[in-house]
Amino acid sequence: MQKLKEKVALVTGAATGIGRATAIALAAEGANVMVTDINEQEGHQTLNLIKEEGGQGQFFQLDVSNPEQVNNVITEIFNKEGSLDLAVNNAGIGGVFGAIHEVTLENWHKMMAVNLTGVFLCLQAEVQCMLQKGGGKIVNVSSLAGLNGMPGGSAYSAAKHGVIGLTKSAAIEYGAKNIRVNAVCPGFIQTPIIDDVPQKVLDYSTKIRVPMKRIGQPQEVANSIVWLLSDDSSYINGHHLCIDGGFSTS
Ligand code: NAI
Repeated sequence: MQKLKEKVALVTGAATGIGRATAIALAAEGANVMVTDINEQEGHQTLNLIKEEGGQGQFFQLDVSNPEQVNNVITEIFNKEGSLDLAVNNAGIGGVFGAIHEVTLENWHKMMAVNLTGVFLCLQAEVQCMLQKGGGKIVNVSSLAGLNGMPGGSAYSAAKHGVIGLTKSAAIEYGAKNIRVNAVCPGFIQTPIIDDVPQKVLDYSTKIRVPMKRIGQPQEVANSIVWLLSDDSSYINGHHLCIDGGFSTS
């Protein structure tokens, strides 16, 4: 039986990687999926993949760092579909800018704009829709770098720590309003974002540090997100779930 039938779901950054896998997984569970991304071409491709499997959805171009666009797109979805039940704030950029004394203010602001302010803006707009309909479920995509320092990636790590703080605060603020907010913290997952990570670092992390001795796949993150958005996780709120093959325990 499909677990998310009749639910309207929004996924940001759904053109590739974890976002695409999540959009497809949500559609497979019966959700009507609002595929959003700054990348129009690949975003449409995600929608095509959903439709090929018999799922339903629409594509909206959305830059999560643009407050006006976030508000307009989410309001349009809510007005058109009459509801927004589930949301995945996944859009993100990578970036290793060097040690803290080498990070430019421009790079810092860019990272914060997408990876932290983007989540804040979407969360704000989504919660406003959910409050009107009496509830909803949200998953924010953080990272293991949201729990630990990341040499060379301080801006990324700071933004992802911020996502955990937002998640916990939102869980407390809206728990009594029937809105659950959780986060996932993936380890290294095979997606385009890791193209910039040196092979040596990837090999050390995935073949030595990860007890399961392999990198993760987008589908494995998507499955956990679907679970957090379903009633199977009905008493889980404000949690951050590590999806890392045991990396964080090693
Ligand atoms: P990805 O690069 O395949 O996906 C990121 C998506 O976000 C792309 O479709 C991109 O077009 C979109 N995007 C970038 N800037 C945007 C903006 N301003 N507005 C809207 N969309 C935008 O990489 P991946 O791995 O699927 O990343 C998804 C999330 O997972 C990110 O938040 C990333 O930080 C996080 N993550 C990824 C890990 C990995 O090893 N792949 C590990 C931990 C966290």
